[in-house]
Amino acid sequence: MEVETLNPYDYSHIVFFTGAGMSAESGVPTYRGRGGIWHKYKWEEYACQEAFESDPEKVLDFHELRRIEALKCKPHVGHEIIAEIEKNHPDVQVITQNIDGMHQRSGSKNVIELHGSAWRMRCSSEGTVREDLKNGTYSNRKCECGSWLRPDIIWFSDYLDPAVTAKADKIISKANLFISIGTSGVVWPAAGYPQMARSAGALCVEINPEPSEQSDMYDIIYRGKASEVLGELFQVF
Ligand code: OAD
Repeated sequence: MEVETLNPYDYSHIVFFTGAGMSAESGVPTYRGRGGIWHKYKWEEYACQEAFESDPEKVLDFHELRRIEALKCKPHVGHEIIAEIEKNHPDVQVITQNIDGMHQRSGSKNVIELHGSAWRMRCSSEGTVREDLKNGTYSNRKCECGSWLRPDIIWFSDYLDPAVTAKADKIISKANLFISIGTSGVVWPAAGYPQMARSAGALCVEINPEPSEQSDMYDIIYRGKASEVLGELFQVF
């Protein structure tokens, strides 16, 4: 596979749009495809409000385990390349579906977390949000008010935060380079972002070893791994 180098300074507004495949080489499992979480676990039992209400401990155990596992993983060179470009460029934005915090750990500051963060908890009755960053294990499973705390992430049938999606829409509408990395393109509204970027006139690049549901939207497609393709695409180190 031949990868043509891009100069980030040829583009004024750059968006890196990432999914679970971005973290795969760090050792964080994806959701679909080989070894995907939703093959091993039924999301109906672990990733929806109904499951949480019927058995909060079971749902929290599942999400706590994912935090513990994520902490054992480290960002890879692909994350570092994105962070390095952001450091030296006036307008680089990461829009991620990932909840693992890997972009921030590698130094990216402009990160929109569409699906929330595994490192925040929300009171299930008051709606107040707090960071819970220190360990893999949760520091508290209950709020001071006595209600359960739930991960501040988007579960199936949850609505995305409209302030977050409005921010993402605005950024994508200005993008002139849109690089999608490691997403199957099946979960909406994120699945609509490549089309949105295309309509905005951005050069749209897909990095994914497999075809995605949105592959038709891209101008350039690299069927390779995130770290390898990013390393060839941007000669930043
Ligand atoms: P998926 O698990 O659906 O898709 C992961 C994608 O990454 C697949 O298309 C793989 O081919 C690709 N991939 C695997 N290894 C890769 C690598 N080394 N480099 C690049 N790509 C690679 O994950 P998402 O599209 O992120 O939602 O899933 C979207 C949402 O569905 C997630 O945010 C999650 C899930 O249910 C919530 O948690 C709300």
